[in-house]
Amino acid sequence: MTHKKIIVFSLFLIISSSSLFGFNNEIIPKPDSQIFSTGEFILSNKTNINFSENFKISAYFLKDFLKINNEQNNYINEINFLYKDITNDEGYILEILEKNINIYSKTNKGAFYAVQTLRQLFPFELEKNKSDINSVKIPCQVIKDSPKFSYRGMHLDVSRHMFSVDFIKKYIDALAMLKFNTFHWHLTEDQGWRVEIKKYPKLNSIGSYRDSTLIGHYTDKPVTFDKTRYGGYYTQEEIKDIVAFANAREVLIIPEIEMPGHAQAAIASYPFLSCEQKQIGVASTWGVFEDIYCTRESTFTFLEDVIDEVMDLFPGKYIHIGGDEAPKNRWKKCNDCQNLIKSEKLKDEHELQSYFITRMEKYINSNGKKIIGWDEILDGGLAPNATVMSWRGESGGIKAAQMGHEVIMSPNANLYFDHYQSKKEGEPVAIGGFTPIEEVYNYNPIPKELDENDKKYIIGAQANVWTEYMKTSDQVEYMVFPRILALSEVLWSSNKTNFTEFKLRAEKYFKRLDKLDINYSKHLEKEETK
Ligand code: ACM
Ligand code: ZN
Repeated sequence: MTHKKIIVFSLFLIISSSSLFGFNNEIIPKPDSQIFSTGEFILSNKTNINFSENFKISAYFLKDFLKINNEQNNYINEINFLYKDITNDEGYILEILEKNINIYSKTNKGAFYAVQTLRQLFPFELEKNKSDINSVKIPCQVIKDSPKFSYRGMHLDVSRHMFSVDFIKKYIDALAMLKFNTFHWHLTEDQGWRVEIKKYPKLNSIGSYRDSTLIGHYTDKPVTFDKTRYGGYYTQEEIKDIVAFANAREVLIIPEIEMPGHAQAAIASYPFLSCEQKQIGVASTWGVFEDIYCTRESTFTFLEDVIDEVMDLFPGKYIHIGGDEAPKNRWKKCNDCQNLIKSEKLKDEHELQSYFITRMEKYINSNGKKIIGWDEILDGGLAPNATVMSWRGESGGIKAAQMGHEVIMSPNANLYFDHYQSKKEGEPVAIGGFTPIEEVYNYNPIPKELDENDKKYIIGAQANVWTEYMKTSDQVEYMVFPRILALSEVLWSSNKTNFTEFKLRAEKYFKRLDKLDINYSKHLEKEETK
């Protein structure tokens, strides 16, 4: 190559991979590579979509998104779903030529993510108005892409506040758009039991409702209450519908049934489940509560029955059984719990918690499923096959990885979306903390402390959305967006750049959120003043 040719070629490479020259290079999460060429594909209602059975879910999603009728003979160009043996199951190649668009992947997952990328190459107006797709032009290009982590999760607590079936679907839809593959659905708590369990109807008639709800922040004095009865639950039919909706978006739902703590709503429904066996109410304040499940045999029978119904509803391989924030005072004073410590030759109440979790793990494993627990499940000995969700920082996750257990990072300092995102005056009341979007963007789920061999146990990360201070779905969206954009890039993008570059793309993404009627905070800066 002559000098001149090298310069021209280098310039071409820079232009073709840069956002500075006006090309549409604002995809979130950022793909591995995006190389433009000349020409454009013109979308039309005479575009045909071709697919085989393997790619049906993705093709239907695209057809539904574009409102294209596939049964036409007079088509002028095509979008083809094609099999290719790509190393990563969730990876894809998206090839945009003048005559057709080719989506190559090994599985429907890869094809689905190609569709989500293609969606971002369309003008954002298409999110709302499909009436005229004929003028849509997409520059010719090839995008090669695959995820960095296999577990890309978002959590939602529906117990402190509950949200409609329509909102749960909207949330899952947004997760899928950003290439998240897991929705951790926190279904039981002290303040409300939200999943219909047919064998124990009082869980719903009693446990799903609280008489009153704390007003303001839980540190406010004097304490005041809204005396309105609050609650509800998702029926099994509604859950099946949501699971099918998630399945059509390659999102796995992990249900969480908390134990042994955060169980006050269950105990209010069935007092035999606690050590003291006294009638208590569903909690109306926030925090950690003393009444937890007793370790009597009758509790295990109850929990196994509950888990049976939950396993029937959720076909995925994981059941989350909580394990966090379980005070041991009741167990210390309970004859039944103390007798079990003696008969099982356990050292203390922490080992009793480990016994509890390990016993439930055995039951869940025997049904072909795996457990996930918060990092407290390490205390007193980790159940043999458990996946650990590290929330009290990273140390639990590091320890579990060094023991050869799968780990999901969810440290509260970096990934708790119930924390404030701005220190500016006028932010809605939140639990506390400060987790600006830049902190999320710069988070690396692989701790430096891990050696090469143990890094593989970190399967991904997740942000948690605890809803004590989120009464409405608008407020949930405000806390989640745009921090979720940053997390999507942490989890998906191997060629993340820097926050300044990301911010430019995030700002453009806001227009898409507007069309989707998704509420979001505009805090992209790390303000230091309050
Ligand atoms: C948690 O935030 N208690 C897991
Ligand atoms: Zn007890």
